[in-house]
Amino acid sequence: MAEPPVLYEKREGGVAWVTLNRPAVLNAINMAMRDELWELMHAVRDDPDVRVVVFKGAGERAFSAGADISEFGTAPSIAEARRARRERDLWGLMLSLDVVIIAAVHGYALGAGTELPLCCDIRIASDDAVFGLPEVSLGYIPSAGGTQTLPRLVPPGVAMQMILTGDQIDAATAYRYGLVQRLVSRDELYPATEAMARHIAERPAPATTLTKRAIAEGAELPLATGIALESELVRRALQTAPLPH
Ligand code: COA
Repeated sequence: MAEPPVLYEKREGGVAWVTLNRPAVLNAINMAMRDELWELMHAVRDDPDVRVVVFKGAGERAFSAGADISEFGTAPSIAEARRARRERDLWGLMLSLDVVIIAAVHGYALGAGTELPLCCDIRIASDDAVFGLPEVSLGYIPSAGGTQTLPRLVPPGVAMQMILTGDQIDAATAYRYGLVQRLVSRDELYPATEAMARHIAERPAPATTLTKRAIAEGAELPLATGIALESELVRRALQTAPLPH
């Protein structure tokens, strides 16, 4: 039987692991994997037991080498490809989730393999990780959100440089740019990620969810509007967990 393109494992303590599971093709993201992730992210959204989701790539060589290039040009028409993308906006769905999402990145993380971690809240990388957005070099525009998510995370000039040159950067450089929040050895990658995931999952749920929302939604707003959003979310938090008298 063919291996499923995505593996899902619910662990103790509110943590779930999602594995991109096409190691023979460096976990290239094909339509079957996207469909599976789409279903899975809905299941995660509706599962109150899951507090933190971790993404990783199967095999030794890659988190993901990006969109499956063997499927390029296979859609019946450009309009059909656009419609499918609009109807199943996986990246938008990930960005809208209340659960905290962490990417544990090793090896190649190219194209959508960089953009998927950019749709996560926190990125941890091992020192063998390589990031890059080769789309423009191939004549495409990054289309898993990269033109928007990358400049919100790293300085705009760095985002321009990475996207327009398509040059790969190593894990240490990604860490220096702020693309990655923690850099560890390959052996430490999953234990360190699990520890961080559990640590976050142990925090009180409403405070974590509302605070994530304040940070994520607030980043899109002028400061004063963001402060008003924070006040509103504090009011909502106090309704669920009033301060002790
Ligand atoms: N889509 C589909 N298959 C891919 C893939 C992708 N994005 N990236 C790698 N693969 C497949 C290769 O075709 C190869 O399959 P094969 O063994 O059946 O020939 C297998 O994964 C191993 O890759 P290979 O190219 O042989 O390894 P390498 O060490 O020589 O090079 C990379 C590794 C990542 C540099 C190279 O695979 C690569 O450049 N991949 C494409 C990356 C890319 O452009 N992604 C963004 C697309 S927008």
